[in-house]
Amino acid sequence: MVPEIVNYVRMRASGLASLGLPTEKELRSASRKKAAAGLRLEKLSAPWKRELQLEKLRAVGRESGEEFSFAVLGDAEPGRFWIFRKLFNKKGVFETQLRRVQSRPVDFSMQMGDMVSRGIKRNYLQFFRRLDHVGVRVPYLTTLGNHDRRFPHGRCDADLYRSFFGRTNYHFDHGGVRFVSLDSSLIRLTRWQLSWLDRILDFPGRKIVFTHIPPVGLREWTKIAWRREVAGFKVGADEMMEIFSARAVDRVYLGHVHAFGVQEYKGVRYVLSGGGGSPLYPVGQSNVFHHTLAVCIGPDGIRETLHPLHGRPIPVSEAANLIV
Ligand SMILES: [Fe+2]
Repeated sequence: MVPEIVNYVRMRASGLASLGLPTEKELRSASRKKAAAGLRLEKLSAPWKRELQLEKLRAVGRESGEEFSFAVLGDAEPGRFWIFRKLFNKKGVFETQLRRVQSRPVDFSMQMGDMVSRGIKRNYLQFFRRLDHVGVRVPYLTTLGNHDRRFPHGRCDADLYRSFFGRTNYHFDHGGVRFVSLDSSLIRLTRWQLSWLDRILDFPGRKIVFTHIPPVGLREWTKIAWRREVAGFKVGADEMMEIFSARAVDRVYLGHVHAFGVQEYKGVRYVLSGGGGSPLYPVGQSNVFHHTLAVCIGPDGIRETLHPLHGRPIPVSEAANLIV
């Protein structure tokens, strides 16, 4: 490069720096870092595509009616604001519980949503690093939570979640059981979802539903302190519960509220399992503690075992007496 050009570049670079603007060198460096982070995200997220995880599950090859187990793992996001993280979050709980799930005889695990505090690339990159660090081997499936969207509240897209995992409403069959993951992350259900749900639950075998946010009909879980219905969804909630009862759904697993509980409503058993590792907020709920569930389905019925972070496993029929 001729000296005049070199001097011009130096002068321009120093001029921009003195204005507080990034130099060309800094811009190139930032662009390289962004591209590298994008590649890391692409590489780390690739194994968790739903179709790949379902392929692993199909390879287990359960016969209809055969006994098998799966794990339910609740909310994992560490808290959106630093003060909540500081006051109520405990680092490493999600990883510890996820690691324990890997050593249990389960065919798959279902994460009940809110994996990240806000569905942006930086958070998902950290989350996939956590999965990678744990060395997850058991097929890992997810239900979309409100925090997994671009913003946790209000109408916004779930494009990143879709690009990493797949559709937000989906079902699969395993061992003659139909599993349905229903997207309640926008704090409402649409007519299309209700119609899809009714159709997909028209199935002769056992039916299990996973959805992130509780319907307001499950009153105890949707109040925070004295405020009722703030932690639940209202639009489409009654219709959804009517469909569950009419279609004789065997279990509905929920997250969003960082606690544990069981409720029966019009013949359907609802199990709250939001203690995957997220902060334990003092919101006035009973049974606020970190835990996972192991669910065994066999000819004799469905049995849940509660695995608290600390202490011995507890059969849920016994644990259910602890609530409300
Ligand atoms: Fe949530």
